[in-house]
Amino acid sequence: MSEGAAKKEEKPRRFQAIRGTRDLLPPETALWNRVEQTAHEVFGTFGFGEIRVPVFEATELFARSIGLETDVVSKEMYSIPDPIDGYERKLKFIEEELPKLDKRGDTLQAYLEEVQKEFEKYPEVEMLALRPEATASVCRAYIEHGMQQLPQPVKLYYMGPMFRRERPQKGRYRQFYQIGVEVLGGSDAPAIDAEVIEMVMTFFDRLELQGVQLDINSIGCRECRPKYVELLRAELLKVKDKLGPDSQRRIETNPLRVLDSKLESEQGIIATLPHIADHLCEACAAHYAAVKHQLEMRGVIYRENWRLVRGLDYYMRTTFEITAQGLGSQNAVCGGGRYDGLVELLGGPPTKGIGFAIGEDRLILSLQESGKAPAQQGRDVYIAWMGERAHATAIRAAKDLRKAGFSVELPPVEQKFGKALGQADKLGAKYALILGDNEVSEGLWTLKTLADGSQAKYTEPDLLEHLRKQKALSS
Ligand code: HAM
Repeated sequence: MSEGAAKKEEKPRRFQAIRGTRDLLPPETALWNRVEQTAHEVFGTFGFGEIRVPVFEATELFARSIGLETDVVSKEMYSIPDPIDGYERKLKFIEEELPKLDKRGDTLQAYLEEVQKEFEKYPEVEMLALRPEATASVCRAYIEHGMQQLPQPVKLYYMGPMFRRERPQKGRYRQFYQIGVEVLGGSDAPAIDAEVIEMVMTFFDRLELQGVQLDINSIGCRECRPKYVELLRAELLKVKDKLGPDSQRRIETNPLRVLDSKLESEQGIIATLPHIADHLCEACAAHYAAVKHQLEMRGVIYRENWRLVRGLDYYMRTTFEITAQGLGSQNAVCGGGRYDGLVELLGGPPTKGIGFAIGEDRLILSLQESGKAPAQQGRDVYIAWMGERAHATAIRAAKDLRKAGFSVELPPVEQKFGKALGQADKLGAKYALILGDNEVSEGLWTLKTLADGSQAKYTEPDLLEHLRKQKALSS
């Protein structure tokens, strides 16, 4: 085969975004930015500060926090072995031990054997996972940076990509984005739960999200929940044969999750199961009642949903979920709850905690479906220039206009005016600034308003003033 023929057969692979991931493009990204900007503003008014945590962490951090039996940990994490960490630990050991060799009076052979034995104790690899959520990471950071020394509670928010190996569908991706909030430390006063919920509702309100429905529940504490879970298990065992395989398995692993089931055939059975609200201990019942009262004081409308148990193990007491319009089956735009004890579970001091995470992809989808997405932003000014002298003036004009905050398109090569105006139109420009030899030598620039085709001449300072005034009028 000739070299030419071999080359021809080598068809370059056409790469595509990995299943469950996607590119976010303009103009949609303008909506993402608006949503994120609104989050910064609203959360700021409630006294929250932004935290940025890494995109990957030790797999064990998530396994411990979220729970081994949960779908997220048992099926959906992107976890990879990282051998370098083990290597670094060995280096550290040698660095610490080698200087002691002189004092030991040992043979080198004996020393090396001991070192070898030490090494065998270390795992060769550490498993690292792309974060499926960020609550565990924020708790890790709280402990690592001794944030319990700060005035409590510490109020933090974050935004960024999360990764779960789920079956992709509308509103469900393998790389998705969350805007989340965590309140750590201080007391577990019901007003904190209510204020966190009030904040997310304020945020949704500001964005004019449609069809917002807040569901709340209390899933009790270490005292009362195990008793309820046992009761639930006993009740479920009585009807085991009528349940599907997933729920049958969950009777053993996590009976609460049966309440999450969406299987049509199980709904009648689930409706007959005991409600956790009737089995809360006194402290949890009082806390739940106070949270509801606090929500009412804030004018937050909620619905109690006894089946709202959430899919992550760290929750206790308050849980909540918010749904919105236009999302189909994946309609939860926000989920959260209280997780007192999680920081302690991760080796930190006893710490109260509550938070939520908004699925940003779903939030955007819902805003788009209800027509709340901004229209494509066109340029303010398209500079149609012709001739070398005009080019130099055009570059200067572009610089000045951009400095004044206008969005300017400056074509890199000369175009005939007709073509330039057509291009300005396609880009949705409001004005075309026409700069030819005449304009430059007269010092009078032609500004064409593309909506009505009207044209007028301005000196440079007058033009800037005119555009400023027009912008102020339209905003
Ligand atoms: P979560 O319920 O697992 O909670 O996720 C929160 C939100 O993230 C969901 O309501 C949904 O909007 C969005 N979401 C989850 N998975 C996907 C996916 N595959 N595709 C698109 N969106 C998704 C947590 O993550 C907790 N860390 C929330 C929290 C913070 N609780 C206390 N603090």
